[in-house]
Amino acid sequence: MLRTHNNGELRLAHVNQTVTLCGWVQRTRDKGGMIWIDLRDRYGITQLMLEEGKTPKEVLDLARTFGREFVISATGTVVERLSKNDKIATGDIEIKVSEITILNPAKLPPFLIEDDTDGGDDLRMKYRYLDLRRNPVRANLQLRHQVARFTREYLDNQEFIEVETPVLIKSTPEGARDFVVPSRMNPGEFYALPQSPQTFNRDEDLRADRQPEFTQIDCEMSFIEQEDVLNMFEGLIRYLFTKVKGMDLGEVSRMTYAHAMKYYGSDKPDIRFDMKFVELKSEEVDLVSGKDFAVFDSANTVVGICAKGCAEYTRKQVDELTEFVKRPQIGAKGLIYFRYNNDGTLKSSVDKFYSEEDLKKWADAFGAEKGDLILILPGDGDKVRKQLNELRLEMGNRLGLRDPKKYAAHWVVDFPLLEYGEEEDRWFAMHHPFTSPKPEDIQYLESGDLGKIRANAYDLVINGVEVGGGSIRIFQKDLQARMFEVLGFSDEEAKHQFGFLMDAFEYGAPPHGGLAFGFDRLCSLFGGSDSIRDFIAFPKNNSGRDVMIDSPSTIDDKQLNELKIRTVV
Ligand code: AMO
Repeated sequence: MLRTHNNGELRLAHVNQTVTLCGWVQRTRDKGGMIWIDLRDRYGITQLMLEEGKTPKEVLDLARTFGREFVISATGTVVERLSKNDKIATGDIEIKVSEITILNPAKLPPFLIEDDTDGGDDLRMKYRYLDLRRNPVRANLQLRHQVARFTREYLDNQEFIEVETPVLIKSTPEGARDFVVPSRMNPGEFYALPQSPQTFNRDEDLRADRQPEFTQIDCEMSFIEQEDVLNMFEGLIRYLFTKVKGMDLGEVSRMTYAHAMKYYGSDKPDIRFDMKFVELKSEEVDLVSGKDFAVFDSANTVVGICAKGCAEYTRKQVDELTEFVKRPQIGAKGLIYFRYNNDGTLKSSVDKFYSEEDLKKWADAFGAEKGDLILILPGDGDKVRKQLNELRLEMGNRLGLRDPKKYAAHWVVDFPLLEYGEEEDRWFAMHHPFTSPKPEDIQYLESGDLGKIRANAYDLVINGVEVGGGSIRIFQKDLQARMFEVLGFSDEEAKHQFGFLMDAFEYGAPPHGGLAFGFDRLCSLFGGSDSIRDFIAFPKNNSGRDVMIDSPSTIDDKQLNELKIRTVV
């Protein structure tokens, strides 16, 4: 062993013992007669002390050559410190050094290996091996390890078995977006990399909560119904909250997709705060038409939120919100608002068209009180609801209603089975093509009311993050064939792509279903961060690049020839 103890271990009880420690030089303070070195490893920091006249001269001279991140070992005696440091666990003692060895010198790191670093994202990613030495990053990976361990523990207790599914699979119809791997032994043929252990892949645009490479806890159960799956995984998430956070998750409520869209404009609403949508115009109500305000007259939906206590927002603040919704990512044309002032008057940005009496009706619809500000968007159905969702979340942030230390979990159920792709002019499976329709909605598969079919599909949402999703699967060959047909597969294509699955259905496939947790998202949620990157040891950047190893990269002609591949770029 190179060391007798680690750097987080020594206490007053060790005083007078001779110890050898190893680690990285965090910092050296040379005060002429005295040198102090903070020695760091994953366990903590221990202070080394060298003294002119007492420490051997060659040891002092060597210590004066140390820069940050030098890897050293030091032997000495544990002594009680004169001035204690209660910020670190070893703060009562220090090591009076007698011998010291450089195990590996280090160049000056390109950024500070400290909790608060001066390194920007790009630099830290390029030198990720240095970044991993920083406490916050190390703590995130340790958290990830804990979450993995407790997940296995729970699932093992529930008699699941862990199965490694293949990494090289077959490309799917949306294959253009697959990551493909050429096969040397089968020239001209390609494997695809799965993004889920299920035979369904996609390559999405990257965001803070999406990586091209991510980890799922993907579970499958047989002889179950939706209720069983929800209970099983509600159990898992509760277990994780108890074990990892030491807290009770509280109620995990349920909400239909239709409800989520109507009241929150999102299939993953953050229900840590209320601020539900109120419709002023929809298929059910109309409190706005017929007053010559063309914007409302021409919209099929007028919907708003009530921001409690915000009536005193300045013009500038309201303008900021208007700019916010007009950003291209959100795309609203403008924001209409009215204030329910503390003196009981109602003032709107559309006073030209609406009387105070009209506004009073709106205020009643919102359940607004004096002091509230109502923000309204006109537009088209779910499109405007999605825009208002962004504004709701922004107001949640501004009003401090999205406390990262609070957790609100719920299931979103009854997703539509299919969604229509305007551009492609065809139906797509909203979850995936193996998701079963609700039995009572199968009739619409025949009648052609495809948009009406609800699926046995569900997502687990925590604090507005979709941490997991799954479905009860189709297990009957005929229904699966019908589904492929609806999705525009010819018999031939269905057979080519999923022949193995259809065959398997003919050999006694049981009713089954499951769910996949987005493991990285789960970890970032527990760690109180929005970015899953912080919880992945070697993440990719927004262009899908690993800037540390510099991949993807070109390959040489010899390799290309061997694979019988010619590139055209
Ligand atoms: P789905 O596509 O909903 O379902 O994925 C399940 C969960 O995985 C996480 N996730 C991601 N995390 C990071 N980066 C990504 N690009 C990414 N994509 C998905 C999310 C999501 O809720 N096979 C089905 C599951 C099933 O039906 O059982 C599936 O993959 O947290």
